[in-house]
Amino acid sequence: MSTRVIVGGQWGDEGKGKIVDVLTQDAHVIVRYQGGNNAGHTVVIGDQKFILHLIPSGILRDGKICVLGNGVVLDPVGMVKEIDGLLARGKVLDGRLFISDRAHIVLPYHKEEDAGAESQADAATKIGTTKRGIGPAYTDKVSRKGLRAGDLLAADLKENLTTRFIQRNERLAAAGMTTLPVAETVEVILAAAKRLAPFIADTTVMLHKAIRAGENVVFEGAQGTMLDVDHGTYPYVTSSNASAGGAASGSGVPPNRIQEVVGVVKAYTTRVGEGPFPTELSDEIGKHIATVGREVGATTGRPRRCGWFDAVVARYAMMVNGVDWWTVTKMDVLDGLKVIRICTAYELDGKVIENMPSRVEDFARCKPVYEDMPGWSRPTLGVTRYEDLPDEAKSYLKRLEKLTGAPVGIVSVGPRREETMEVPGGIPRKG
Ligand code: IMP
Repeated sequence: MSTRVIVGGQWGDEGKGKIVDVLTQDAHVIVRYQGGNNAGHTVVIGDQKFILHLIPSGILRDGKICVLGNGVVLDPVGMVKEIDGLLARGKVLDGRLFISDRAHIVLPYHKEEDAGAESQADAATKIGTTKRGIGPAYTDKVSRKGLRAGDLLAADLKENLTTRFIQRNERLAAAGMTTLPVAETVEVILAAAKRLAPFIADTTVMLHKAIRAGENVVFEGAQGTMLDVDHGTYPYVTSSNASAGGAASGSGVPPNRIQEVVGVVKAYTTRVGEGPFPTELSDEIGKHIATVGREVGATTGRPRRCGWFDAVVARYAMMVNGVDWWTVTKMDVLDGLKVIRICTAYELDGKVIENMPSRVEDFARCKPVYEDMPGWSRPTLGVTRYEDLPDEAKSYLKRLEKLTGAPVGIVSVGPRREETMEVPGGIPRKG
């Protein structure tokens, strides 16, 4: 039996989808534990590209069980679209896809509230959300007013939804936001609920049975540590616990059953949406990284902000998640650069600090302290064995290990399964 969390060590988009796909070869069950369709996981298999928002990328491996845990917020219409997309490409989902009956539902008014709040915000208060209704759905959850997947199965669903839509329209109108046609919208949700009903189950019990039976379970994090509502750059964060701790609360699997945490970081840093980003590059190198790395959001199509690797962020992520080892993705994007910089500390009001300040106002004033490393003498693109990486690339990885305090176990140099290599001795063997 093995239980492993795969978690983003930066601001999301670290390439977790691909790594989950690679690391689920021996898994029986793959679990999403937080977030919703604000996430976008891209996996390329042969000449086929899949972008998944809610369903774990493990669904692409035949026979694996995929679970959306209680910590997820689920947009029923988006979920049906995703299911239909997979069915159309020949994927079998019956008996393989399960939605926790405790997962909260994102309703159309959540999306209106999200988009409305963003359009009404000024430059200082705008978060730059994905407008998928994530924040408002989690707000309803913690204020104990949410609708859960299990409620989609109840006989009174139509009345329940109608009451909610009428009440929420009043609130939307009062806030100067777009109201929704009640009867029509209720019908849309009822139709989606009917489609989702066969997938809704008590996944907490399922997961406990799977672990007791010795099955391998992989927990797939969405977003990243710096977007975690507690540990990230608050308030420029998402509304869930994207870090490894969320795997326990978001699935019902107790923390002492989770054996390993794999952190995923890009060889550089990106961020989508608002909020400070000390190593951001607004120059030609930033543009080069964005172009070569095709840094465009998989969910919103927004261009991602790009910058150098920030070891202060990664060290913090290592600490908060208990990262046992890293996967470093997109090494190839740095191919051809003469000098590669790593941020090792910050300068804040004339003092050098090695840890992240908690207040975003302080974080915004942090200036990166850089260390320069030579770029690689030949490309990493196309390399399939760690031994064949250029020496400078190996030194860069060694430096990241030293600065972050965890070993690098896997390196990725492209979107395909084959473009992934294990670092000899990099994955610590437990037990
Ligand atoms: P929300 O999750 O839509 O509320 O957005 C809050 C913040 O998280 C915004 O800065 C988004 O750009 C960011 N965000 C949400 N999901 C993702 C993701 O999957 N990758 C990267 N950033 C994300």
